[in-house]
Amino acid sequence: MINRRDFLQQGALGGAALLLSPKIGWTRSPNSRMADSRIEVLFDEPLGTISPNLYGHFAENLGGVLYDGIWVGEKSSVPNINGLRKDLIEHMRKIKAPVIRYPGGCFADSYDWRDGIGPAEKRPRRTNFWANDEAEKAPAKHRYDPNSVGTNEFVHFCKLIGAEPYLAANVRSLPASAFYQWVEYCNSPAGSTTLADVRAAAGFAEPFNVKYWGVGNESWGCGGEFTAQEYAVEFRRYSTWLPKYGDTLNLIASGPNTDDWSWTREFLVEVLRKGPGQLHRIYGMALHHYAWNLSRGKTQNWDAGKGDALKFDSVDWYELLREGERMEGLVNGHWQVLSEFDPLHRVKLVVDEWGPWYRPGSEATPGDLLEQMPTLRDAVFSGMTLDIFNRNPEKIAMANCAQLINCLNSLYLAREDKFVITPVGHVFELYASHQQGQALRTVFSAPNLPYDRDGKPASFWGLRGAASVRGKTLTITAVNPSTNESRLVEIALRRGTVKESSMTFLTNSDVHAHNTFEQQNVVVPQTKALTPSGGALVVEFPPASVVALNIQLD
Ligand code: AHR
Repeated sequence: MINRRDFLQQGALGGAALLLSPKIGWTRSPNSRMADSRIEVLFDEPLGTISPNLYGHFAENLGGVLYDGIWVGEKSSVPNINGLRKDLIEHMRKIKAPVIRYPGGCFADSYDWRDGIGPAEKRPRRTNFWANDEAEKAPAKHRYDPNSVGTNEFVHFCKLIGAEPYLAANVRSLPASAFYQWVEYCNSPAGSTTLADVRAAAGFAEPFNVKYWGVGNESWGCGGEFTAQEYAVEFRRYSTWLPKYGDTLNLIASGPNTDDWSWTREFLVEVLRKGPGQLHRIYGMALHHYAWNLSRGKTQNWDAGKGDALKFDSVDWYELLREGERMEGLVNGHWQVLSEFDPLHRVKLVVDEWGPWYRPGSEATPGDLLEQMPTLRDAVFSGMTLDIFNRNPEKIAMANCAQLINCLNSLYLAREDKFVITPVGHVFELYASHQQGQALRTVFSAPNLPYDRDGKPASFWGLRGAASVRGKTLTITAVNPSTNESRLVEIALRRGTVKESSMTFLTNSDVHAHNTFEQQNVVVPQTKALTPSGGALVVEFPPASVVALNIQLD
């Protein structure tokens, strides 16, 4: 049986209506259809502030992510800013991208950051971690890393966007000194160290002030095949001394794969063997979960279990969402384990890789490793996942969608001068207003969706989402996962009056709908104003939709 670990080791909707009614109970819309669902926002039950970092990204040096997703080169005819794709930067500014993780993923534990600094023409070419998996026809730069993008270019990319860089250090194949010297290169004050001078010679005199550092990646697999105990020893060693320059370094420990509770527990037992003070070294515990197994319970084989990104039926649709909704249990479960060791909850979860993972075959650019075509299904999946994060703001410090461009659950696809925003990219647009909002406990009630799972009855929930308030703006996001039924949803606010409101939503009559280089606007946000008239909103959520309600309170 091949599992992920082994694999990695080897290599409007008409009729939207508003009624305001202070009473509890199902409300009738003006066209007399009874509301079948309800969202009740509990203003008196705040859950915590939604960190912008829950809307983070991940860009690994893998396949077409860097070359030519992010980097096109300064001399390219593709519009660029210092060699970095301009369209990408502009949209990432629009969605307020807060943080970007780099350079891996598995790549990180084979990467020597020293290869990626200094004059570009003097940088070495190296064999990429993913070389063995690359297709024959893939561009040479995917297999043999030209190092055109290194720390300077990546941090510059982040600064152009207004995002924080999150760098993952190599624990498998470099010594601890390489880690602290990378921190020194990035953060030592202008003129203070030889490495600060090297940075200044490249045009970056001022320190980068990188705050987020990963100590290895998937150390249970491609990051070194460590046991949790062995990795804990390495974590202690790599984190024992690092230069801070007056700032806080937030260290993220390589955490569990999906429901590997024992990794979380055994890691903490070993780290704390040296005393409870050790806990202060850990800012976050990484958690990775990919929704890959669409076999309907038939296999755990990493290759055989995967589904197709474009060819799927309605059962595959619900299977993917089932795999994705496991995230809430994973967050709660690992949080529970953390609580045993850290009752004061200093250490948070960092979900730095999440998304669906399909079998190859749907690439917009044939030969781009791990690239897949995001559809409306992935938009619903992504909205559902972001709402899980929104509902758990006290537990999760950061989350990073895997991966930004030309890869798994990508927000963007690009090839040479072609660039398109995928339905997933549009979800990030719809959800951006949650950032820095106060999450509110919210009750979603809707009929379950029964379906036939290979002759056995199964069902999926009918409506879920999250709400947050910031000043006088209330944001409610939700997904209607039904492939064929709209929901008529009563919104019960129980506080304040609605000054004005609007809904923005993503949907399409075809659940396979996706945006291509040629047809860019198949799944795009549509906005309509909702005119308040009384005490509860009644809004129609189309089938297979991601919906964001923007409500201005008096
Ligand atoms: O995102 C692709 C790969 O999946 C990453 O490199 C690795 O960390 C994970 O297993």
